[in-house]
Amino acid sequence: MPGTAGAMPGPPLAAAALLALLVPAAARSPGAAGCEVPPGGRFDCGPERLLSRAGCEARGCCYEPAGPGPGPGSGPGPPWCFFPRGYRSYRAENLTATASGYTAGLRRVAASFLPGEVGSLRLDVAMETPARLRFTLRDPARQRYEVPLATPRVSGRAASTLYGVQVNQDPFGLVVYRQRGGQVLLNTTVAPLFFADQFLQISTSLPSHFISGLGEHLTPLVLDTAWTRVTLWNRDMAPVPQVNLYGSHPFYLGMEDGGSAHGVFLLNSNAMDVLLQPSPALTWRTTGGILDFYVFLGPDPKSVVRQYLDVIGFPFMPPYWGLGFHLCRWGYSSTDITRQVVANMTAARFPLDVQWNDLDYMDAKRDFTFNEKSFKDYPEMVRDFHRSGLRYIMIVDPGISSSGPPGTYKPYDEGLKRGVFIRNATGQPLIGKVWPGPTAFPDFTNPETHEWWHDMVKDFHDQVPFDGMWIDMNEPSNFVEGSQDGCPNNSLEQPPYVPGVFGGRLRAGTICASSQQYLSSHYNLHSLYGLTEAIASHDALLRVRGKRPFVISRSTFAGHGRYAGHWTGDVSSDWEQLYYSVPEVLLFNLFGVPLVGADICGFVGDTSEELCVRWTQLGAFYPFMRNHNDHGTRPQEPYAFNPAAQAAMRNALRLRYSLLPFLYTLFHRAHSAGETVARPLFLEFPKDPNTWAVDRQLMWGGGLLITPVLEAGKTKVSGYFPAGTWYSLAGDSTIHSKGQWILLPAPLDTINVHVRAGHILPLQEPAFSTAESRKKGMALVVALTPDGFARGDLFWDDGESWQTFEKGDYTEILFLATHGAVLSQLLRVGAHLDGVLLEAVTVLGVTSPPRQVLANGALVGDFSYRSDTQVLRVPVSLPMWEQFVITWS
Ligand SMILES: *[C@@H]1O[C@H](CO)[C@@H](O)[C@H](O)[C@H]1NC(C)=O
Ligand SMILES: *[C@@H]1O[C@H](CO)[C@@H](O)[C@H](O)[C@H]1NC(C)=O
Ligand SMILES: *[C@@H]1O[C@H](CO)[C@@H](O)[C@H](O)[C@H]1NC(C)=O
Ligand SMILES: *[C@@H]1O[C@H](CO)[C@@H](O)[C@H](O)[C@H]1NC(C)=O
Ligand SMILES: *[C@@H]1O[C@H](CO)[C@@H](O)[C@H](O)[C@H]1NC(C)=O
Repeated sequence: MPGTAGAMPGPPLAAAALLALLVPAAARSPGAAGCEVPPGGRFDCGPERLLSRAGCEARGCCYEPAGPGPGPGSGPGPPWCFFPRGYRSYRAENLTATASGYTAGLRRVAASFLPGEVGSLRLDVAMETPARLRFTLRDPARQRYEVPLATPRVSGRAASTLYGVQVNQDPFGLVVYRQRGGQVLLNTTVAPLFFADQFLQISTSLPSHFISGLGEHLTPLVLDTAWTRVTLWNRDMAPVPQVNLYGSHPFYLGMEDGGSAHGVFLLNSNAMDVLLQPSPALTWRTTGGILDFYVFLGPDPKSVVRQYLDVIGFPFMPPYWGLGFHLCRWGYSSTDITRQVVANMTAARFPLDVQWNDLDYMDAKRDFTFNEKSFKDYPEMVRDFHRSGLRYIMIVDPGISSSGPPGTYKPYDEGLKRGVFIRNATGQPLIGKVWPGPTAFPDFTNPETHEWWHDMVKDFHDQVPFDGMWIDMNEPSNFVEGSQDGCPNNSLEQPPYVPGVFGGRLRAGTICASSQQYLSSHYNLHSLYGLTEAIASHDALLRVRGKRPFVISRSTFAGHGRYAGHWTGDVSSDWEQLYYSVPEVLLFNLFGVPLVGADICGFVGDTSEELCVRWTQLGAFYPFMRNHNDHGTRPQEPYAFNPAAQAAMRNALRLRYSLLPFLYTLFHRAHSAGETVARPLFLEFPKDPNTWAVDRQLMWGGGLLITPVLEAGKTKVSGYFPAGTWYSLAGDSTIHSKGQWILLPAPLDTINVHVRAGHILPLQEPAFSTAESRKKGMALVVALTPDGFARGDLFWDDGESWQTFEKGDYTEILFLATHGAVLSQLLRVGAHLDGVLLEAVTVLGVTSPPRQVLANGALVGDFSYRSDTQVLRVPVSLPMWEQFVITWS
């Protein structure tokens, strides 16, 4: 550990070490000396307004006009007014050991320049697990808003930890470092702490420039530390770079030299900015709540993700049909048209599992109604879909139409009676405007609202037996600023500091920040709106259908993946957004929302045939695969294109369907063990820094690498292949990589998919829906390492019952290849695989031609082997529900 080794207490921290833990005063009075800060390490002393030299120096700060200029919006660069080294804000006192760690008092020692500055704070450090540290800063005199997320309750202190903690006394700062090697992961001494009523700020050094996370934004996988401001405040906004979008995930994962990783989660739901600067350092600047941090020590990036999910919850298990192909557009204006879409898909021989409708089905765009003319036979349509093995989902918006005469619209009448709506300053339902016109907004933090929502969902489901819910516009989006009656002028509407939200005001595109919800003000709860609606919808669907719920939501917050999935909103039909969908899907997997995808072929604007083919190929590897199109643009259903394009799309869809048993197993691992489904390369290869920023490729689990074409007019694509052996899934080529970029052929009908040596993937013959494909024959692709080893697994159940894993109602099979044999081992056997046969085993990397192949001891006569590709194909017919062994020699 650089510099301060003498001040570090020995592991583990004990009460006796407390004295050593407190680093004595390092404070300096501000002056020219303290101003010698390299530009990349300067922290803004005037974040909330522009300061003159005099104003800056009056704060005890340094003034040096340099770079593009001060203040937000002036472009990236060092601040003109910055804190000198050792600037004092709080000092730590009374550090004491507690059952779970430490506590200390912080006293403010500087004159404050922010309204509502809190004079003394309490620091609590909880050593919750060997890899997880939590520290909070609260006002001991006043209960402030805290995010109502159920996090693990831990009593006691982890005995031996991967981290050490040091508290700097004056100025106050906290240092978290790795016990092994001493790498400093956080050092909040680099800039002063602020804790005012509506302005809380804490900065930290970063151990490297590789920082990923802090969604939701249109960004590459790795964030830019060259003066980037990342704003979190959920917002209905067609994705463009540098703008706050639909979700808030105040979590980042950082890579360290040598390939270790750590993560930091700030459990805070207020509007915030996170600032990244070149030193490298990061500043959290939030407008309310408390500072509640979790630090995850990994030490590998997969463990960091799991440790984060231990806090926010593991992902829900989607129904099997939810992994099939979904088709939607705004503009399927009648049941006739919607039925035609399904008929045209069938006629063109495309798989389809779930047909959707956008707003078109509604009567006057109101939730829980349907148009009695154009959707006259709506219930029959849905039943007909069910009869042909399809599922059905429709859109639901949170805004409840409020303008009809009393007694004409039950959701509003009942909602009023039951007091479920968000209230304005005079205690009445706040009225905004969404698709149906004037609307009230249900307050999903109120338990009564969950009951009411369930009742509405049930009433509608009794008429139209839909299978899942698509919850849109739930940031919540509002077409008038604040409300139809405006918003009051108060400190919640006009906070002393407004983060860089699009539109400049918190109420932009949404409801008044000062409106009142059951748990707190909307100011505090805004970014939880989508999450709370997702929980209510998930619970309602479970009660109404009794099966595994399927909810897809636009707005999200940390913890969302426990209840629902996400699509990436109103992306436009262009190549740039095709690329951005890869990092977005990868990031949402790090956020614990593995069921995620972008609208295939793009939503806004006309797609092109080539773009739509490439997007369908990539989309076949989104965990959630839906083609969705805007009103009035060029049709983009797979059947809407020329035969060659259709053939390419059909291949992509068949490829996905054949891989569904593997994908489903990955979802099981996510649900049961906190893993990711779609995975950035660095999660598998953290020791290879070349992988860290790769975001034009993705993996499924640890075994499959997808290299899509993301540019127009290309028939080749370059991909990074970490050191090792990679087989094309088709078995026709092999890459032995030293860890290098490789140019691959990629004609329009091809997406490059490679299996990593050492993995066994379970596949199934594709069909036109999962209802059919689940009964088809299975196959194994066995990708041998050079020493002839591979393993894989299969999770299987009935595909839709609630909590099959928790109840033990499933089958789990382990596949193992070694020494010229592949065998299955049944870890658990439910009844659900009965009748499913293993029909083919393809072994990749068989170096010498076998003379004899046996399946369960019986001779297989018709195996084939090619010495040029080293592929052995063994046709078999073996019950999946019994153990088998296949040998070659
Ligand atoms: C530290 O403890 C002393 C004695 O109890 C108390 O007066 C003081 O306020 C405490 N300091 C802080 C910052 O809480
Ligand atoms: C933390 O940062 C402060 C201020 O930059 C510095 O003086 C101190 O040495 C750092 N501590 C560690 C352990 O790196
Ligand atoms: C379905 O296909 C028919 C025949 O090609 C076409 O006329 C019709 O417009 C298609 N319907 C839809 C909704 O795509
Ligand atoms: C609150 O909303 C009601 C409509 O529900 C409206 O009549 C009233 O003027 C609003 N009050 C304020 C202060 O905006
Ligand atoms: C809001 O109130 C503040 C003082 O409370 C005042 O300075 C400001 O001008 C007011 N804004 C508007 C738009 O009325």
